Amino acid sequence: MTTSTAIAHPNIAFIKYWGNRDERLRLPANGSISMNLDGLFTRTQVAFDSHLDGDKLILNDASAPDETLQRVRTILDEVRRLSGVTHFARVESRNNFPSGVGIASSASAFAALSLAASAAAGLELSEAHLSRLARLGSGSACRSVPAGFVEWLLGTGDLDSYAVSIASPDHWKLIDCVAVISREHKITGSTEGHRLAATSPLQEPRVADAPRRLDLCRQAILARDFDALARVVELDSHLMHAVMMTSTPALLYWEPATLTVMHAVRAWRGNGLPVCYTIDAGPNVHVLCEAAISEQIAARLNTIDGVQEVLVAGPGGPAHLEA
Ligand code: PMV
Repeated sequence: MTTSTAIAHPNIAFIKYWGNRDERLRLPANGSISMNLDGLFTRTQVAFDSHLDGDKLILNDASAPDETLQRVRTILDEVRRLSGVTHFARVESRNNFPSGVGIASSASAFAALSLAASAAAGLELSEAHLSRLARLGSGSACRSVPAGFVEWLLGTGDLDSYAVSIASPDHWKLIDCVAVISREHKITGSTEGHRLAATSPLQEPRVADAPRRLDLCRQAILARDFDALARVVELDSHLMHAVMMTSTPALLYWEPATLTVMHAVRAWRGNGLPVCYTIDAGPNVHVLCEAAISEQIAARLNTIDGVQEVLVAGPGGPAHLEA
């Protein structure tokens, strides 16, 4: 029996992934760019064991629902296929951030699982291969494999759709102040949301314009140009939510307090504070700024009615094995 433990951070997308061109392989409709979130992580331990009569999954100390186990099996099956290991596995995974706080844990969870499972099976996968493996569990998980600021390449198929680091974590002290608005579980998860994307008349123009936004975002990160980043990040978030709101059935993730925070951030920026927001498939608002003003921004967000707590995270490192 071999056991390996891996750690991976969640990430926040600056250019969003929404919609798949191949659902099973989770090949995205468009490329995306994100930043890993330091301080928040999933730690996952995997052991292949000849005594097990099936794969077992313990999530935050509780036995996981069948649907989650099924997604985990996708990764374990691929690792068994690559390594020739035939035993079932025991997987124990824990987040250091409260679950249900609205921070998607699937990215960090599948990145950590892919690394721990491949190491436990004796594989030494390249970063690109590991990123492809994580992608099979959750698309955004492929971006939690490399370090810092990361781009998920659209690719032409399974072999070349993976994520690469475009800048290291210490390139830019950018901070994500997450205004937590609801701890409720989302009504429509992203797997179902990706399926609905194509029903929106706005998905096609959103996808067609993605290469331009990716260029603007990559350049803004490389030049540490906050104003340019703010423009493209808010545009991209609004485009994704426009697609969500115009899908059939429509998805509306915003709560009243989501809009309150959006208006506040725009007002602060109007008054000269370099700050912007982006929102994933939920009501929480990720407010981005540079480290010099992050304490002030977090304090301001904490005074807004409907904001339950503010999590603060800088750029995080790559998925890695625990020594
Ligand atoms: O990886 P998934 O299937 O959970 O999709 C993530 C979707 C968004 O978080 C809304 C956008 C993104 O690029 O992370």
